[in-house]
Amino acid sequence: MPYTCLSISPFYTKDDGIARYNHPLIGPFTLIMFKPTAIAACIAVFVLPAISSKTIAQVITIPVETQHNALILQTDAEKNLKMVYFGTKLNNTAEYEQIKKMYRQDDDSGVLDDAYTPSGSTNLAEPAISVTHVDGNKSLNLVYVSHELRKIDDDVSLLTVTLKDPVYAFEVKLFYKTYFKEDVTEQWSVIKHREKGIVTLNKFASANLNLKGAGFWLKQYHGNWALEMQPEEAKLTHGIKTIDTKLGTRANLYEPSMFMVSIDKPATEDEGKVLFGAMEWTGNFKEDLEFDPANNLRIIAGINNYASDYHLKPNEEFTTPPFLYTYSDHGKGDASRKLQSWARKYKIVNGEGSRLILLNNWESTYFDFNETKLAQLLKDTKNLGVDLFLLDDGWFGNKYPRNSDNAGLGDWQENKQKLPDGISSLVKGATDNGVKFGIWIEPEMVNPASELYSKHPDWVIKQPNRPEKYFRNQLVLDLSNPEVQNFVYGIVDNLFTKNPGLAYIKWDCNAVIYNAYSAYLKKDQSNLYVDYVQGLYNVLKRIRAKYPNVPLMLCSGGGGRVDYGALQFFTEYWPSDDTEPLERVFIQWEYSYFFPALASSNHVTNWGKEPLKYRVDVAMMGKLGFDIVVSKLTAAELDFCHQALKNYDNLKDVIWHGDQYRLQSPWDNDAAALMSVDAAQTKAVVFNYLVNNRYGSGTKTPIRLKGLDPVKKYKVSEINLYGAAKSAIDNNLVLTGDFLMTVGINPNVNSNRSSVVLQLDEVK
Ligand code: GLA
Repeated sequence: MPYTCLSISPFYTKDDGIARYNHPLIGPFTLIMFKPTAIAACIAVFVLPAISSKTIAQVITIPVETQHNALILQTDAEKNLKMVYFGTKLNNTAEYEQIKKMYRQDDDSGVLDDAYTPSGSTNLAEPAISVTHVDGNKSLNLVYVSHELRKIDDDVSLLTVTLKDPVYAFEVKLFYKTYFKEDVTEQWSVIKHREKGIVTLNKFASANLNLKGAGFWLKQYHGNWALEMQPEEAKLTHGIKTIDTKLGTRANLYEPSMFMVSIDKPATEDEGKVLFGAMEWTGNFKEDLEFDPANNLRIIAGINNYASDYHLKPNEEFTTPPFLYTYSDHGKGDASRKLQSWARKYKIVNGEGSRLILLNNWESTYFDFNETKLAQLLKDTKNLGVDLFLLDDGWFGNKYPRNSDNAGLGDWQENKQKLPDGISSLVKGATDNGVKFGIWIEPEMVNPASELYSKHPDWVIKQPNRPEKYFRNQLVLDLSNPEVQNFVYGIVDNLFTKNPGLAYIKWDCNAVIYNAYSAYLKKDQSNLYVDYVQGLYNVLKRIRAKYPNVPLMLCSGGGGRVDYGALQFFTEYWPSDDTEPLERVFIQWEYSYFFPALASSNHVTNWGKEPLKYRVDVAMMGKLGFDIVVSKLTAAELDFCHQALKNYDNLKDVIWHGDQYRLQSPWDNDAAALMSVDAAQTKAVVFNYLVNNRYGSGTKTPIRLKGLDPVKKYKVSEINLYGAAKSAIDNNLVLTGDFLMTVGINPNVNSNRSSVVLQLDEVK
């Protein structure tokens, strides 16, 4: 009988016979106990002192630290877990214990700073979690049980804090995964119970942050098709501001989950305290920002609980997706560089690697192509001098040919009229031309005019008794159904199996979920929005397991689903169908706060009135690509493209992997300017774009550069000059980093020089 005392609190055990003990001061540790005498000894050593001295049992402080920042968790007298601090790290860790005392304690403020707010008991603030127990009771209380800090490597650590309800067999584990060097945290929770039946999760946030400050300014985004990433910034007033979506699939279409909160005063590019946050979830999300009665900012972020009461079986784990955040007390630029380098290193597929430059045919042919036209486009790809030809929508469907957007989705067989020799002959044609071949798919969708729809109406998300409602003439397949997951996986797997030379896939998603109903889920309809996304991730995981390196572009009728939950499977994203270059300066500018340049697919198209040079210069800000009729370019235009591609090749490492600095915002200036610098500070590129083309507008004063080595000398040269154009700057100028960052350089942007690209090379 070695384990008799193991049921005595605060001892607990698992089936391995090892007794674990939560010491009130030093946290959990393990004892291997075989004899009753050992048990008695441990009670004497640990339990009795804890009972006799009330004071030492009180406070457990858990710092979650990164290179510059700290998030401090602390228990109160009742073992509720509080988040008492978030911001710049203190020099003396011991002083974290004192923080709580600096704030007025009254009846209300005590319940406002929970690290994961439960609902239905004493806590009346907006909850992070609310549940309905098996007996119908809706109260939840969560108290601290233990915590564990695991160092994954020199940079990454994982803190787990276990909370339990003292009355119900209900447990929440909070996870804080920190990236020390990047100052980034991913936070999520795992919810589990051992009640006798199904517990309903009514709300299940990933994170619940509490910020202190003298006021908070929220920068958020809204948009629509071809209008992505429109920013708005305002001071938060008391009450709750919600950023959310209920669209299901194209979750970001009207509001993405990315936001910034400035603390004390609005942060600028280089000054001020600012938190960046975003959900890593490719579906409905909800972020509540509550400026509470004690003037704290409570941020509760997670999956949207809209129509999503989740039914959880005993011992099943519900893992919420990560809420991602970073913080800087040096402004928005610093925060964005942290996030960008984190994404390159840890999130985006092949984030520190290379990318293929491509020619796409969407805007040059739309659905109207055949093998002859494509043969020409493959030659054009070679003539242009890029790596890959990407065949867009329109290549599939026979009974219901995909000749417009109202038929064929779901029937992923080559259209025999357009492509009698199939994709394999196109892959071969590409190889013969010395280029690679990629293809567009939209595998989650179905047109009612398709063989798939006739064969499997039960695979489609739609209400059984209501009229169908279409978005772009199509409906969404039910990815909560494992059979549908297999089908979607099979689309990709068949393409690669039949065409081993296939080198790239553009994965689109053009419809939202109307009439949410799954024939597969039957009585569990409210699991649909969550299970859909998990089904999508299952498919993408399988694809990545078999094809770990193939480049995949994340597209959703433009930027309808750009988030890190999806980007963990993709190499790049399509920011917007709006490729008008002036608009693109603004759209790409705002995306750049959250996503690294190498992931932003920027294509040169014929949208807008700006000259080819302007269009190419704007696209070069990220991952350059083309969607133009190459055979219609004049010799001068083609020559310019060749020159620009050569320059891009020389600079792509700096653009893709360097540190990006925003110099002059398009929103407040005649010209936008931003630059990238390599890690060694030996090479840089500065992009300047006229965004206000009125009489006399342009850059009248020098623009101060950033991120250079003040001591190093740099040769400044203007590149991407069109034809015989002469540069308006002295191309032999060698200036120190000090000069360039203190005085700056005037790129002389004006209506005759509406875009200017400068290259900086260290001169020894
Ligand atoms: C979406 C994409 C476009 C293009 C079309 C094809 O709108 O955003 O780039 O692929 O679909 O139908």
